Amino acid sequence: MTGPSSELPPTRWEGPTDVGRGYGRHFADLIASGADVEGEARLADALVPRGARILDAGSGMGRIGAALRRAGHDAYGVDLDAGLIEQSRAAYPDLPVALARLEQLDGEFLSRQGMPATYDLVVCVGNVMVLLAEGSERSVLAAFRGILAPGGRVLAGFSLVGAPPRSRVYPAEEFEADIEAAGLAVESRFATFDLRPFTPDADFAVYVLTRA
Ligand SMILES: C[S@@+](CC[C@H](N)C(=O)[O-])C[C@H]1O[C@@H](n2cnc3c(N)ncnc32)[C@H](O)[C@@H]1O
Repeated sequence: MTGPSSELPPTRWEGPTDVGRGYGRHFADLIASGADVEGEARLADALVPRGARILDAGSGMGRIGAALRRAGHDAYGVDLDAGLIEQSRAAYPDLPVALARLEQLDGEFLSRQGMPATYDLVVCVGNVMVLLAEGSERSVLAAFRGILAPGGRVLAGFSLVGAPPRSRVYPAEEFEADIEAAGLAVESRFATFDLRPFTPDADFAVYVLTRA
């Protein structure tokens, strides 16, 4: 791919109002106030050795990729939202980010951006999975599979209940069917990024995935 394609159906993130600006400002304000916005990055850090290659898929304003760079990883970000890519580059100039649609990610595209073609960990958190274009979930998961290094894993987290406006409801069973169809397998499942156990009434899901 050469960049986000206008031929693809729109994601749920895109729409009549620019939700990206509000999200970007919200996290910039939280960070300025000293709030802890790095729980996802701490779990990602625990899943890999030092200096791992990590792709933050749907990196938004860059908070997670930047935290992983600070932790010493070779971290990169991709996102379709040009405004957030700009905010990320301004706030975190050390984090290389590229404009991309996740369903079109492959090693060739990433190499052309000066990024590794394969990764020890693909991080897809912050409700990205429930904001994808309708019907694209399996393609996105298959794209993640295609850029995993040997032994590489995916860390995904999203709301099962009370997800943000415009996002879809994505029941755990449906996500797990999509994982299997994409050639991935569930290694572990939790309800939070500090690893509380998953229960049938969990309102959030955190998955660690491997190649099937
Ligand atoms: C709620 S934001 C979360 C951003 C970041 N992961 C975080 O947690 O701070 C959701 C992000 O998903 C991105 N996104 C959704 N669908 C996408 C797709 N198909 N390709 C690339 N980015 C996508 C949006 O552009 C947006 O930046």
